[in-house]
Amino acid sequence: MRVALRPQSGCLVLCLCVSVVTLLLQSLWVPPERTRSETAAGKSPDEKSDDFRFHMLAVRLEALNAQVQKLSSKTDKTQTNRNDLSLMLQSFRQDQQGLAQLVETELQKVSQRLDQLILHHHHHQASTPHVYIRPYNSTGLNEKCEVPTDPAYPVCAEKVEFLRARWQSDPCYAFYKVDGSTCSILVYLSQVEDFCPTQPGRNHTAASWRHKTPSYTKQAFLRDSLSPLYEVISSSSSPAVKFIRSRVERMSESWIWAGRGMKPNRNKTVSPQMKVLLHLGALAGDVGQRFEAMVDRGGPLGELVQWADLSACLTILGHNLTFSTSQRQLHRLIGAAPGQGSCPIQRPLTFDLIYTDYHGLAHLRRAMGLAFQHYQCRFRILDSFGTEPAFNLASYAHLHGYKTLWGSWGLQPLQYMTMFPHTPDNSFLGFVGEDAVKTNDEFKPEIYKKDNIAVVYGKQEYMWQGKSDYLEVISQELEIHGTVYQPSGRASSLPGFVKNHGLLSQENFLQLLRRAKVFVGLGFPYEGPAPVEAVALGCMFLQPRFDPPHSSHNDVFYKGKPTTRQITSQHPYSERFVGKPFVWTVDMNNRTDIREAVESILKTKVKPFTPPEFTCLGMLERMRRYVTHQNFCGNSTAVWEPEPVLRVLLGPLGQSCVDVCQRSALTCDPALFHRFNTPDTFTRIGLGCSSMVQEVNHLFPSYSPWGRLCGLQQEPLLFSCAGSDSSHRRLCPCRSHRE
Ligand SMILES: *[C@@H]1O[C@H](CO)[C@@H](O)[C@H](O)[C@H]1NC(C)=O
Ligand SMILES: *[C@@H]1O[C@H](CO)[C@@H](O)[C@H](O)[C@H]1NC(C)=O
Ligand SMILES: *[C@@H]1O[C@H](CO)[C@@H](O)[C@H](O)[C@H]1NC(C)=O
Ligand SMILES: *[C@@H]1O[C@H](CO)[C@@H](O)[C@H](O)[C@H]1NC(C)=O
Ligand SMILES: *[C@@H]1O[C@H](CO)[C@@H](O)[C@H](O)[C@H]1NC(C)=O
Ligand SMILES: *[C@@H]1O[C@H](CO)[C@@H](O)[C@H](O)[C@H]1NC(C)=O
Repeated sequence: MRVALRPQSGCLVLCLCVSVVTLLLQSLWVPPERTRSETAAGKSPDEKSDDFRFHMLAVRLEALNAQVQKLSSKTDKTQTNRNDLSLMLQSFRQDQQGLAQLVETELQKVSQRLDQLILHHHHHQASTPHVYIRPYNSTGLNEKCEVPTDPAYPVCAEKVEFLRARWQSDPCYAFYKVDGSTCSILVYLSQVEDFCPTQPGRNHTAASWRHKTPSYTKQAFLRDSLSPLYEVISSSSSPAVKFIRSRVERMSESWIWAGRGMKPNRNKTVSPQMKVLLHLGALAGDVGQRFEAMVDRGGPLGELVQWADLSACLTILGHNLTFSTSQRQLHRLIGAAPGQGSCPIQRPLTFDLIYTDYHGLAHLRRAMGLAFQHYQCRFRILDSFGTEPAFNLASYAHLHGYKTLWGSWGLQPLQYMTMFPHTPDNSFLGFVGEDAVKTNDEFKPEIYKKDNIAVVYGKQEYMWQGKSDYLEVISQELEIHGTVYQPSGRASSLPGFVKNHGLLSQENFLQLLRRAKVFVGLGFPYEGPAPVEAVALGCMFLQPRFDPPHSSHNDVFYKGKPTTRQITSQHPYSERFVGKPFVWTVDMNNRTDIREAVESILKTKVKPFTPPEFTCLGMLERMRRYVTHQNFCGNSTAVWEPEPVLRVLLGPLGQSCVDVCQRSALTCDPALFHRFNTPDTFTRIGLGCSSMVQEVNHLFPSYSPWGRLCGLQQEPLLFSCAGSDSSHRRLCPCRSHRE
């Protein structure tokens, strides 16, 4: 087969042909996963199956397509040559057997010819259209760079083909000196990525981004000032960062006082100073602009509250903080290669820990290439609502209907840090109930002189819709105050009995809460920080019960969130762990129920109350434990000291280990599953198994009474405290509460 190629006329024809052949081959293309698993299953990589050959061909065609398109964009579009087309198609009708080889060698020739044409064009053009498109060095073409077949590098050939086709898809390859030639690709694949063996004549050096960084040179000493934090965030003009700063400033006294109250570390744990990056992903990009705009209009501030308190905590604990609120900043800080992030970063990551959110996680993946996997053990994800193990492992989530917009990152479940202690599978980060402990002064009742008023939790009008009856019952006993954002020129749709202050600054809002007897939840927003803060200011929190509970199955807000949690009220944490007399949960549609609650509230006097875990001291101790002991980069999962006493409990059908342990006043600890995930456990607790399986299943280890089936866990990432199912009795790792 000879393809007559005239640069002026052949391009469009060739484009067409290539597209046709690509389509043809795509139908025969095996997904790369399958090719890889076949290799893993014992097939030697050089035993090229037809599938594999077609795969290679398709990749090569893609490369050709790119070349042709480049060429045609440079040449004037002239009349097409029908002869070329029919010639091509005729040759493809040749005998099926040898087609693949034939096409492959011919296409290689075409490819070389195209390269020469491109080179030719470059000689005639003053400047190149894109800096990253560089011609083959014609002498380089003759340079012999063979793709090595080394069993230690099974995917080398595949990666070379891939890069031949795709090296121009991301400028980062050109940045790392890939110019489309096999030689340049091999150098890249051996020195920047590590899919190919080192070239002869070159010394092997690990890719620079893999080098170990000398770390932990300094010790972290408790600070009694927050000024290092102010220094790093003072330059930002974003409303969100200003919110963070003003919150930290307002609470600085409490932080410093709590820091002084901390016990010194246990003798053997000297904590090194960590270099910490806080990348506020939600503030970067389009999402960020919308988010920032919302800050001044009553939008959600829960995440910012957590970012503020986290940064204050880490500062007091003596660590070194860096902030990033845009992708550009992030790229600079981690040394991303220019381009779209297909390539690894240019140097080793200098941060020991990166706190970010789900948006930021996506930014990191789009900036780090291979280095993302290498460094993901250093990431911590601020994830208000939590990510259960079943949603975390992509392959499992995909197969079993747990695939969601947010999950599937395959991190250790403890790397997700939640706003409330939803499940021990994740780490509870929390925040601080503002004004909880201003100083070590005793509680002064005169600061909290209560008027007969109720403040409604809901800064936006839509949250109030359909709640008038509920509020009307309350208004019979209490004056109702609102802090609703109202754009000027729009009539208010709030009930007439509401005294609306408009959106208040956080400071004035807290002032109002100090005077209020009751903080009234409308049912939304869910699980925010405000109720904890209201109770910390001496309010009682009145909120609606959800019966049936809200969840990802029946509620738009939770739909797509990686959790199976059943939300029994607007604020289940307060309902469950704080309770009366601070928290009153009512049936919003039952006037009697509401009235009785309000009457009881009026007869009750409460002092400001903050659960210990929501005080500065509580958060400082917790963060210190995480920073010192949570290490996901080694082999073992986090090991706490001293090793806790484990009680293995067998739950009833349908109950999660969170519930099973809680019912015995214990806590589920997912790090302890591995200690009893063995066949003899079933015997020890007196269960006779008719059969024993080891499976990838987030409900295992567990016992199924039907058929007396005993199941052991095969995938450590799926050890789950949260998992429950009506046909499984979970085996649960329970231990006593810490401290
Ligand atoms: C091509 O590469 C050779 C060595 O590989 C070099 O000597 C020559 O200058 C290069 N030519 C161009 C045009 O870059
Ligand atoms: C390779 O390493 C050896 C010994 O470490 C050194 O002498 C030699 O110069 C190195 N070669 C190159 C090309 O860097
Ligand atoms: C830590 O303290 C314990 C007693 O509290 C002591 O026995 C032990 O030797 C100490 N370890 C170190 C490394 O100082
Ligand atoms: C944090 O680290 C950077 C870079 O290592 C250093 O310049 C800075 O002084 C450190 N800040 C503090 C407060 O230790
Ligand atoms: C309404 O609430 C009252 C008091 O809690 C209760 O006795 C009554 O049964 C409830 N009515 C309905 C219809 O649920
Ligand atoms: C990880 O575990 C393996 C064997 O289980 C051991 O050989 C290796 O040294 C461990 N690596 C680290 C970093 O602890």
